[in-house]
Amino acid sequence: MNYRHAYHAGNFADVVKHITLARVLTYFMRKDTPFFVMDTHAGIGRYDLKSVEAQKTKEAETGIERFMDALPDAPKEVRELCEPFTKLLNEMNEGKLQYYPGSPMVAQSLIRRSDRLSLVELHPEDFAALTENFNWAKNTKTHHLDAWQAMKAQLPPNEKRGVVLVDPPFEDRDEFNAILRALYEAQKRFSKGTYMLWYPIKDLRMVASFSKVLSGMKLGQTLDVRLMIDRPGPQDKFIGTGMVIVNPPYVLEKELKVLLPWLVKLFEIVPGSGSHSIYELVGEQK
Ligand SMILES: C[S@@+](CC[C@H](N)C(=O)[O-])C[C@H]1O[C@@H](n2cnc3c(N)ncnc32)[C@H](O)[C@@H]1O
Repeated sequence: MNYRHAYHAGNFADVVKHITLARVLTYFMRKDTPFFVMDTHAGIGRYDLKSVEAQKTKEAETGIERFMDALPDAPKEVRELCEPFTKLLNEMNEGKLQYYPGSPMVAQSLIRRSDRLSLVELHPEDFAALTENFNWAKNTKTHHLDAWQAMKAQLPPNEKRGVVLVDPPFEDRDEFNAILRALYEAQKRFSKGTYMLWYPIKDLRMVASFSKVLSGMKLGQTLDVRLMIDRPGPQDKFIGTGMVIVNPPYVLEKELKVLLPWLVKLFEIVPGSGSHSIYELVGEQK
């Protein structure tokens, strides 16, 4: 396990992923009944953008830093939709941006006392840091487990409603298949759950075959959401961020149609190089 998220925290893909997660959880809070959130690849939950790791890549400069600089001039509806995410950022930082929330902190900031958050992380050092960051939170538990084993053990949740974020490091090419296998097993036991499956857009053929398998699976409504910052080029260039969302809140597509065009303009490499798309891989059951 070589991957450490500290090198990438706050990059454009994190910003898109975390805003989307915040929108999904905001929707879940509309109902009083408690829900469960599982973050299968949690990382450490909170990142210092001044750390040696973050400074080495400076990925946050073209991600969260650019986002926070541009937000005051964004259209009102974009600002409103980003508010659950930006509120957290403002709480973590006094004026000047230094700390960035990982998905565990985004989730923790949006759940209520009666909801439950499960954070799974396999890297021993990152697991220790994660546990230290969340040991104060009664509704949050950290687990030093393999994500795929944890999904088997923890789903379905007693709450019967919940969100599962699957965000692997994609260190090896089999990770697309690992996600498909885990989703196939999980949704047999928890078919009503909302699954958010993050993937990098580098090799378009891999991405196309991933989508094709998903569209043939017996899933509830499923969206495939992509934000590209550049046009396709050499195969291994990181040109976009993707997320498959199974059983999305019914408002999500409408919200993303407001957010994504603004985010594309913000993150594209050169004017006009970016794009976005929202495909319905599996249709809504009427
Ligand atoms: C992309 S990072 C997660 C970022 C985090 N979800 C966020 O948005 O802030 C992937 C994490 O998965 C962890 N990891 C890798 N393989 C794993 C496995 N099999 N089970 C659980 N965690 C794993 C890595 O150590 C790394 O911290």
